[in-house]
Amino acid sequence: MLKKILGKAVTTLAGRDDFAIPEHDSPLFAGIDWDRLPRHVAVIMDGNGRWAKGQGMLRTAGHSAGVKTLKNILKTAIGLQLDALTVYAFSTENWKRPEAEVDFLMNLFSEYLKKELQEMHEDNVQIHFIGRLDGLPPSLQKQMREAEELMQNNTGVKFNVAANYGGQDELLRAVQQIALAVKNGQLDPSAIDEALIEKNLDTVGNLPVDLMIRTSGDKRLSNFLLWQAAYAEFYFTDVPWPEFSPECFVDAMKDFASRDRRFGGLTNK
Ligand code: IPE
Ligand code: IPE
Ligand code: MG
Repeated sequence: MLKKILGKAVTTLAGRDDFAIPEHDSPLFAGIDWDRLPRHVAVIMDGNGRWAKGQGMLRTAGHSAGVKTLKNILKTAIGLQLDALTVYAFSTENWKRPEAEVDFLMNLFSEYLKKELQEMHEDNVQIHFIGRLDGLPPSLQKQMREAEELMQNNTGVKFNVAANYGGQDELLRAVQQIALAVKNGQLDPSAIDEALIEKNLDTVGNLPVDLMIRTSGDKRLSNFLLWQAAYAEFYFTDVPWPEFSPECFVDAMKDFASRDRRFGGLTNK
């Protein structure tokens, strides 16, 4: 009980509730080089559990706090006019966690959608879910489809939420689809190129990832966007996801602007 009460108090402090989309000339954006922003940012939102434990709370309180962070980072991405924000919410490996934690997360996704749907729509967000969605609870799948439909004609930031997502699983599904087309005589193997593979990925229609952010200290990809991050810049921070503020996100943008992206060549031109 005490943990529950404490959990509420601390999570309220951790993420601001009243954070609005920052204007172009907002102090938050001071010092940003608008010509050198990433277009597609991916985020591995890690450290919820460790953060909560560190506060003497249950791991699940960390996930609740993480949702608030996500809301504010999406608002910041909108203010920055990024083309796409892709976030890792649940991996194909996360089923290994205790059932109670998995159930809590599935519920949290459902509640998040219920609560935030309308506001995201008003913010002109195009939501899209990536991953093996048919492995998720049917009621959640339905909510996801409805959310995508509601926002399908929006023109703002592409907000991709990875749920039951694994980069290897995504590539496997793409290979199966392509192989089927070959088998049916619709496709010659020599016609398989990078563009065709991209067409068969969940992220079809998105630009490659420019910047990959991982919070909470670990420096690995954990099976996220293996194909799409081929030439991404990586940004690792020790800040746990529940404490990752819009200021932290802007710091990552500034760091990105200082990178020399050569793409195998000798200059970044
Ligand atoms: C990230 O936080 C959220 C999910 C994987 C769903 P974690 O739950 O991995 O938190 P840590 O890394 O154990 O602290
Ligand atoms: C990656 O975090 C997945 C998500 C953020 C959803 P994990 O916490 O599951 O990754 P590992 O286990 O540390 O590699
Ligand atoms: Mg983790």
